Amino acid sequence: MPTSLDDTKLGGQQLRRVVFSEEEIKARVAEMGAEISRAYTATDRLLVVGLLKGSFLFVADLVRAIDLPLHVDFLVASSYAKEKVSSGDVRLLYDAEASLEGRAVVLVEDIVDSGATLERLLPRLRERDPASLEVCALLHKRVSSPAHEPRWIGFEAPNEFLVGYGLDYAEDFRHLPYIASI
Ligand code: IMP
Ligand code: MG
Repeated sequence: MPTSLDDTKLGGQQLRRVVFSEEEIKARVAEMGAEISRAYTATDRLLVVGLLKGSFLFVADLVRAIDLPLHVDFLVASSYAKEKVSSGDVRLLYDAEASLEGRAVVLVEDIVDSGATLERLLPRLRERDPASLEVCALLHKRVSSPAHEPRWIGFEAPNEFLVGYGLDYAEDFRHLPYIASI
């Protein structure tokens, strides 16, 4: 539990406030894992596809909370780089190796902001004939209503720039066990 924001992990960099604590995240991820476990059966051949890099910790914790056989793969889409505002331009830099065909696919996203990432990626994944395709997002900023809303959302996020638990600002802060605003 971070009791102060002047942790050695921050190396003197300043954060505004903790928005979701390590304990809150842990409890919510356990609930989401249980919900996903109830939504599928072993015969669905669940494939969890994490969107890197932001989802790496969430995927790691989420799959351990799912009580079903499953496979894990990852995609890399281009990010904001050093911007705090989405450019809306989404490129696929690394594609999943797993075949999606006939499988129950859950795309795991760290945070939905403009929704551009999902809008660009979902049609491309749907072309690969998954039996089903759902999105599980840890955070949703509700600044837009994307064409495809995530089926599972961890937390409603304030419209602030958030870092930690996988989320970065110019690659910093991904390793924080909590989520903070900057
Ligand atoms: P969207 O395409 O605008 O929905 O943005 C989604 C992506 O932008 C996420 O996967 C994050 O990588 C990044 N992003 C959006 N908001 C934040 C934030 O508050 N902190 C860190 N990254 C963010
Ligand atoms: Mg990012």
